[in-house]
Amino acid sequence: MGFYNASMHDSASVSATLARLIRTAIERNDSWLPFDRFMAMALYAPGLGYYANHSRKFGVLPQSGSDFVTAPELSALFGRALARQVAQALDASGTHEVWEFGAGSGALAEQLLGALGDKVQRYTIVDLSGTLRERQRERLAAHGATVQWADALPDALSGVIVGNEVLDAMPVQLLAFDGAQWFERGVVLGPSTGPAGPAFAWGHRPTALRPPFDAAFPPGAVVEIHPQAEAFISTLAERLTRGAAFFIDYGFPEAEYYHPQRSGGTLMCHRAHRADADPLVDVGAKDITAHVNFTALALAAQNAGLDVLGYTTQAHFLMNCGVLDLLEGADLKTTANTQKLLTEHEMGELFKVIGFATGCDPAFNAAPIGFARGDRTHTL
Ligand SMILES: C[S@@+](CC[C@H](N)C(=O)[O-])C[C@H]1O[C@@H](n2cnc3c(N)ncnc32)[C@H](O)[C@@H]1O
Repeated sequence: MGFYNASMHDSASVSATLARLIRTAIERNDSWLPFDRFMAMALYAPGLGYYANHSRKFGVLPQSGSDFVTAPELSALFGRALARQVAQALDASGTHEVWEFGAGSGALAEQLLGALGDKVQRYTIVDLSGTLRERQRERLAAHGATVQWADALPDALSGVIVGNEVLDAMPVQLLAFDGAQWFERGVVLGPSTGPAGPAFAWGHRPTALRPPFDAAFPPGAVVEIHPQAEAFISTLAERLTRGAAFFIDYGFPEAEYYHPQRSGGTLMCHRAHRADADPLVDVGAKDITAHVNFTALALAAQNAGLDVLGYTTQAHFLMNCGVLDLLEGADLKTTANTQKLLTEHEMGELFKVIGFATGCDPAFNAAPIGFARGDRTHTL
């Protein structure tokens, strides 16, 4: 991290410094960096990566300097509806503890704490980003010692775990198919040398890795695999002694994820509320994400001993949790924003919720409220 000067917040210089750091990593790694390592640096290199630098990131409109909006940023009713499912899980597990992974601006924590009141004695946030942690600390100051932050998971934990759009921010590996052979796609230094140094380019190496689902991939297919997200779920599952976990994110079951028609993969960047598909330019200045393979997550959890409570669309989940009752009497803006969470062509269908549990009252496992109607576990 030798180049970094902590006072340097200007986005162009942050991006240039991060690019130099990544170039050095490529040179030191035999001139080729697997994409997951590139993505990890682009998002999380201390002080420089997209989630580690001081850019605003979350917000409803680009005028605020933000890059994208998430459900809790859009409507507080997201957290209030989720709180009903969390309350049921706290009761069923006999715990008073919530864990949130990747809390962003702290919006969801604020909504859950407000709705759950005394039911929560401890709300622990785990976030890779130090700058976001500071933002969370300011926003949640009124909750005092109830809220705490953890750098790492304890060996054993109990309570209810939540994570909104955290899995899509975990680095993915890329696999490319030329019609006969699979390659791992990584990043190399390109030939063009301007004043800022060589640009990044794609480089492929033969690999024994394969997509988890065997489809008739066309030549030129590029798909993601998600070992980090799977390892994350396995670790959580191994350490959760009693409680439940709910993850909300965009993605599909495996058969849909690796469908030949989606042969370009799902890797996407977000900046100023616009999406683009080129993570190799403007590193650190935009978010990089990939959709979630929910089948792989369900298998990882199940293999480590968790029960899958359910899997459904965000629209079904929120409606099952009574979001429409919460809308009664809401102002126009809240109503319009909450509708975005529910409508099929916005966030209602692409976003899914998956739930896991262990050591809870069996009556809860049989009837978690969020999955009461529209459960699609059979598609995983
Ligand atoms: C797309 S943002 C979502 C933020 C927030 N949940 C929301 O909905 O607005 C992703 C968040 O996940 C965090 N993150 C990514 N990987 C993580 C990990 N392995 N553990 C904890 N937090 C992580 C990032 O720092 C960031 O706060």
